[in-house]
Amino acid sequence: MSDRYQSLIHTPVGQLLAKNLGLPNPVDLERYTEGDPLVQGTVVVGGDSSGGRLGSSLTGALDELGIAYVDEATDGARYKGLVFDATGITSSDQLVELQHFFTPKLRSLETNARIVVLGTPPEATGTPGERVAQRALEGFTRSLGKEVGRGSTVQLVYVAPDADDAITSTLGFLLSPKSAYVSGQVVRIGAVGSSDPAETPDWTHPLAGKVALVTGASRGIGEQIARVLHRDGATVIGVDVPQAAEELHQVMKDIGGDHLTLDITAKDAPARMAHHVKTKHGGVDIVVHNAGITRDKRLMNMKDDVFASAISVNLTAPERITATLLEEKAINPNGRIIGVASIAGIAGNMGQTNYAASKAGVIGFVEATAPELEDGITVNAVAPGFIETKMTAAVPLMTREVGRRLNSMQQGGQPVDVAETIAWLANPASTAVNGNVVRVCGQMMLGA
Ligand SMILES: NC(=O)c1ccc[n+]([C@@H]2O[C@H](COP(=O)([O-])OP(=O)(O)OC[C@H]3O[C@@H](n4cnc5c(N)ncnc54)[C@H](O)[C@@H]3O)[C@@H](O)[C@H]2O)c1
Repeated sequence: MSDRYQSLIHTPVGQLLAKNLGLPNPVDLERYTEGDPLVQGTVVVGGDSSGGRLGSSLTGALDELGIAYVDEATDGARYKGLVFDATGITSSDQLVELQHFFTPKLRSLETNARIVVLGTPPEATGTPGERVAQRALEGFTRSLGKEVGRGSTVQLVYVAPDADDAITSTLGFLLSPKSAYVSGQVVRIGAVGSSDPAETPDWTHPLAGKVALVTGASRGIGEQIARVLHRDGATVIGVDVPQAAEELHQVMKDIGGDHLTLDITAKDAPARMAHHVKTKHGGVDIVVHNAGITRDKRLMNMKDDVFASAISVNLTAPERITATLLEEKAINPNGRIIGVASIAGIAGNMGQTNYAASKAGVIGFVEATAPELEDGITVNAVAPGFIETKMTAAVPLMTREVGRRLNSMQQGGQPVDVAETIAWLANPASTAVNGNVVRVCGQMMLGA
């Protein structure tokens, strides 16, 4: 779907207007192209002098990913990223070390740069003072995300003390253009369940040999998820309703995938899916609950079946399918379950009591399921903000423009941005990333 404002503002007249009237001036976001290095430029790492514990894990991960780094910035040089290990900050008076590291380097960043701060989960710290200081990192990173501009992103990654060597897949995602529309997020590694990185993949095709089931795969975000998982090496089984069979077959034909046409709310759908993946594929490694519907009406005008249908497709079906796949042992060890929530489930939205309840429920589903899983299986969710699809093209113009511009990127995201985030969560090396809900919203002000 096109953003005509962004095309117009990039003309010479548009640039003049943007400058003089203070209009939003969104930068073209860089996105990953298959075959490119993960990071096209050099990253500056810091935090060793503050006593951070992650130094060798961090440089080891960057070496493994083929990302160039230096530990001193040179005058006049330009950098594509900054990574600060803040795990050595154990009291609030040490927080100034963030400012000492970042302030002199921010002007030397290229456009679409990546900033990552690494910390210790506040609940896993040794003293109250350390807990306070680590919690403070959230305010720092979220504010820097709102300041940095020019398509750059800022994240905080809390690494549990036993998960130092489980950071590679997360750094690969957050430092690369794959995270183009993810900013201001707090990611937790190793906070729930096993922190064993489990498998070291071939980083160019990390999903080679994996089987992925993607619901709602015939169009929109689901189609992109299928394409990106296939690009990363997975065999994809696309699922969609019989009315979308033709489009589904076409997408699956393009990527050499398999298909299953059914309504995920049908009583026998979970059993059919379990049977299909077990008999045809020997089990499934990645399950993406993407299929979703909106049925908007203010609650005072809402009919029973309209309220119920959004809950049933978006929430009850993923719950039932997951339960059956787990019961039937159809999800392989080190498997991945990934939900698709929404910013509406965090902030609420006028006319969306049913949709927002279902999407907040997806977050609850992640929280409830993550501690229960075994054999390295994880569950996480993405929460997209304004993504350019047929669904958002149907939103009235003014609401659409507000949704597009009220975020740090001043533009809507693309389906591929959600898909790349899912591919990171699906990575076999992301075993220690469990129980997270990651917003793909360009750091939207709503529900921030
Ligand atoms: N587009 C956005 O801005 C946005 C924002 C937040 C969240 N999301 C979520 O992302 C997901 C994908 O959204 P989209 O914009 O691509 O929507 P879309 O309407 O373009 O695609 C949804 C797909 O799900 C399928 N589907 C619907 N009901 C189904 C059922 N009962 N059984 C099987 N398949 C079914 C549809 O046929 C369709 O192919 C949804 O869960 C949506 O709620 C989207």
